Amino acid sequence: MKFFIDTANLEQIKEAQDLGILDGVTTNPSLMAKEGITGKDNILKHYKNICEIVDGDVSAEVIATDFDNMIKEGEELASLNNQIVVKLPMIKDGVKAAKYFSNKGIKTNVTLVFSAGQALLAAKAGATYVSPFLGRLDDISTDGLNLISEIRDIYDNYDFSTEILAASIRHTMHIIDCAKIGADVITSPLSSITGLLKHPLTDIGLDKFLNDHKKGN
Ligand code: G3P
Repeated sequence: MKFFIDTANLEQIKEAQDLGILDGVTTNPSLMAKEGITGKDNILKHYKNICEIVDGDVSAEVIATDFDNMIKEGEELASLNNQIVVKLPMIKDGVKAAKYFSNKGIKTNVTLVFSAGQALLAAKAGATYVSPFLGRLDDISTDGLNLISEIRDIYDNYDFSTEILAASIRHTMHIIDCAKIGADVITSPLSSITGLLKHPLTDIGLDKFLNDHKKGN
């Protein structure tokens, strides 16, 4: 299972990278804006900076919503670094663009996926990753994990190579449940990843070991 961090914050990306468990980064226009990264040149520079910190795939999202401009934008993003994965919205032109990039050997991540049918289309288009947003489904009283499970079944039925990148992760249990279902990748805020570290019995046990060691010396 790959661990991606879902942020454009360089400090958090460095922290996850230093932990030694990071396989990649996902960003989106909202996450870039949250870090105050605006304007095309700054955005492109920021993607380059992210690629310097991590070794794995870095999803960079297109803003265009029509095929021609998605291709133009995606090609420019892909030319920045071979770690860049062109992130495309799950709309008709996004599917067409995923097929185009797949034919050219450029990696894609089809985002804003909320149904099994959308995920099936993304796989048919040859997307490298599909991003079902499980937290946003949970937010509207719909079972996000069930969607991950449905996509897993469908992809396994046909041996689709598209990787399920569970996105919109809200907490550590989402990560654990995705691992049980067999999502290929999770992308998560740093807090949910570091949350996996914690257990009170670990802290209590370590205190006791260290105290006992002190007494014996
Ligand atoms: O990368 C996109 C996705 O993870 C969004 O998450 O928390 O805005 O629903 P969220």
